[in-house]
Amino acid sequence: MRLDRLLANSGLGTRSQVRDKITKGSVSVNGTVVTDAAYHVSESDSIIYGGQEINCQTKLYYLLDKPDGVLTAMEDKRLPCVADFIPSELKSKKLSPVGRLDFHTSGLLIITNDGELSHRLQSPRYEVPKVYLATYRGQDWTEDEIRTVASGFAIRDKGYSEQIAPAELNVIEPAKAGYGLALLTLHEGKTHEVRRIFAHFIKEVTALRRIRLAGIKISDDTNECGTFRPLSEDELGMLFDATGMSK
Ligand code: URA
Repeated sequence: MRLDRLLANSGLGTRSQVRDKITKGSVSVNGTVVTDAAYHVSESDSIIYGGQEINCQTKLYYLLDKPDGVLTAMEDKRLPCVADFIPSELKSKKLSPVGRLDFHTSGLLIITNDGELSHRLQSPRYEVPKVYLATYRGQDWTEDEIRTVASGFAIRDKGYSEQIAPAELNVIEPAKAGYGLALLTLHEGKTHEVRRIFAHFIKEVTALRRIRLAGIKISDDTNECGTFRPLSEDELGMLFDATGMSK
């Protein structure tokens, strides 16, 4: 993480205030004065700010490409869960997944200890776009069905009516031998929403992968499933922009 962000996240001032201190030579990292605000630091570095060692109470942001067959949970006695992909040195950082992917959905999952960002990313208020790549069994999507998805509709699969917000359906490959491939962009996050939308139109999702969230993209391919990495500055900026937060 950049030195200026770590100091600002630690409550030592705004980003510009801490930058000012850094350029004036008031900050040292592991015994050496650092005047570059973009200098990369990690939580294990010893940072002295204005003569005092600081407690790096940082907010942390990671991306997990969740494999199929993994629970979106931080603990489970029987099944593999996302906690199994988090390195042991981060176990005390109170990280948790933002929202939930089904056990049999792979793809992009944000893992953070920033409660406010997590809340906003899941809130329908910010309409954060999430793109899913779905393999499905059933008839081709008709123009009429795609228009219904685009305008929003009511679903009644739980014995009561639930409104589904407008979403965008793009057919990638029409159904061949009964199987098709489509992208669905949602702006809310109801439980099992993609599978339920497909089921409403008599199509069964047989494989599901989340490949984009708020502008962050991962590969369509499942080869990188299991990758756990920090978000880049640009990616974090996309999440903050999408949720009206400032860094
Ligand atoms: N919609 C689903 O049906 N499943 C997911 O995992 C995510 C969205």
